[in-house]
Amino acid sequence: MDSPRHFLARALRRVARAVDSERGQPIDISDDYVTWVCFANAGMLNRGNLYCFDYALRNLPSTDPIVEIGSFCGLSTNLLVHYMRKHGATNHLFTCDPWDFERSGLSSGENLPGSPLSFVEYRNFVKETYVRNVQMFSRDHLPHSVECSSDEFFDAWRKKLRVRDVFGRDAELGGQISFCYVDGNHSEEFARRDFDNCNEFLAPGGFVLFDDSAKGLPFHGVQRVVAEVSASCRYEMVACNPNHLFRKLAE
Ligand SMILES: C[S@@+](CC[C@H](N)C(=O)[O-])C[C@H]1O[C@@H](n2cnc3c(N)ncnc32)[C@H](O)[C@@H]1O
Repeated sequence: MDSPRHFLARALRRVARAVDSERGQPIDISDDYVTWVCFANAGMLNRGNLYCFDYALRNLPSTDPIVEIGSFCGLSTNLLVHYMRKHGATNHLFTCDPWDFERSGLSSGENLPGSPLSFVEYRNFVKETYVRNVQMFSRDHLPHSVECSSDEFFDAWRKKLRVRDVFGRDAELGGQISFCYVDGNHSEEFARRDFDNCNEFLAPGGFVLFDDSAKGLPFHGVQRVVAEVSASCRYEMVACNPNHLFRKLAE
């Protein structure tokens, strides 16, 4: 039971958030745990996405799996798990990343400019960092993380393949999904294919969140895909904070 002081503090925080959102400021629901994880876990996460994670995970339509496209060092993976824990969501979490970093412009044999480190060493380091971060912060809800591109992942999902994850465990793919976080290759071609693939498996009432879809960012391809989803009558936009979260409507 909350004490009156806690209750008042929570109510004031809620009012402050509402005022912020009216002013067009993204709502940031970061808590102390989020701050600690962000402190230690490298990554690229707009804090506004946390509100979208929280919303989707609180309103999941089913116990179908959740999919993350693009994990990098595991920051968003760990924070997805944080909000899953908070809402008692026991859905399996699948992630995919080839750890080849779009736009790196480097071939595998090349060194990082101005350094003695090869690109291969760098990407292996990032992948190992992912494994370590997720084993640390999400050990109670370890995702099935598959080392492949989203195209390969959905192809395997469609074929209901059994795959080996980066933690050495086997996992069966396939079936409906309840939430997809799209944060892989941000070009229009990839973002559209990621959406089409996700749409094929997303349960009615399920969610899709496009990272880096906010107005003003240089990801115009992602913005065009988001505009199409917005205009379609099959999805409703449930948050723009500043990235876009959509819910699939029942057919
Ligand atoms: C912006 S980072 C992801 C950031 C991460 N979500 C975080 O919380 O820090 C993009 C990641 O997507 C991965 N990626 C690039 N193309 C991809 C693809 N086609 N499928 C899946 N992941 C991809 C990259 O290797 C990179 O790790």
